[in-house]
Amino acid sequence: MTSEYMLQSQAVEAAYGQSKILWGVDLNVKKGSVTTIMGRNGVGKTTFLKTVMGLLKTANGEITYQGQVLNKLLPHKRARLGIGYVPQGREIIPKLTVYENIRLGLESTKEKTIPEEEIYDLFPILKEFRKRLGGNLSGGQQQQLAIARAITGRPGLLLLDEPTEGIQPSISQEIAQILVRLKEEKNISILLVEQKTDFALPITDHYYFFSRGKVVHESKATDITAEEINKFNSI
Ligand SMILES: Nc1ncnc2c1ncn2[C@@H]1O[C@H](COP(=O)(O)OP(=O)(O)OP(=O)(O)O)[C@@H](O)[C@H]1O
Ligand SMILES: [Mg+2]
Repeated sequence: MTSEYMLQSQAVEAAYGQSKILWGVDLNVKKGSVTTIMGRNGVGKTTFLKTVMGLLKTANGEITYQGQVLNKLLPHKRARLGIGYVPQGREIIPKLTVYENIRLGLESTKEKTIPEEEIYDLFPILKEFRKRLGGNLSGGQQQQLAIARAITGRPGLLLLDEPTEGIQPSISQEIAQILVRLKEEKNISILLVEQKTDFALPITDHYYFFSRGKVVHESKATDITAEEINKFNSI
């Protein structure tokens, strides 16, 4: 029987050296969903995504992707299985062109060629700017580039860490629409970290709220109001 979940995290703990940050995170991402992690600064949202990606060791607990245990796999192996990652702050390479940045996305996946038409259909601006240096793009364009890079390997699950940080609201709307298209047209499940309710509300299927390295509340989108979201987001 295939699982209804893309990702399952059970009692996951992680630390930077002696400093424990995650204290037993239980979280599931349903296939075909946008699952959103909210919570204040410093509660461990990025740390959790890094642990899912394998950039940080799972000290205790278990993470599975489509039923396969990830705990001991290196990040590039997890990418090959189909997990894409858009890190906080985007981390595009400023001195490489847009096209070269996109091509970097192939390196850790099993795909051999960039799905150029699909990418430019989602992000027309990247076609126009494909010879420009990444560093010369605006924040919103860099975010689009980081998403484009992460989907070149055709992931089944995309991890996105605060994609609207430092981006003007009109561009945030475009990014929200892109995420919905990735879910609906490309069959990509999404684990989103986001602090802005305005952005999360129209696109989220399921919420998890973090505080001090733990999940303090979770809810289906249909069972929670905007007021409750704001309340749990600031615990
Ligand atoms: N490389 C690191 N070494 C040591 N401690 C770290 C490191 N990165 C983060 N931390 C600490 O881990 C805790 C959780 O940080 P994390 O970046 O996961 O929070 P976050 O919820 O993503 O916050 P933000 O919303 O500001 O991005 C914080 O106390 C932070 O200071
Ligand atoms: Mg963070």
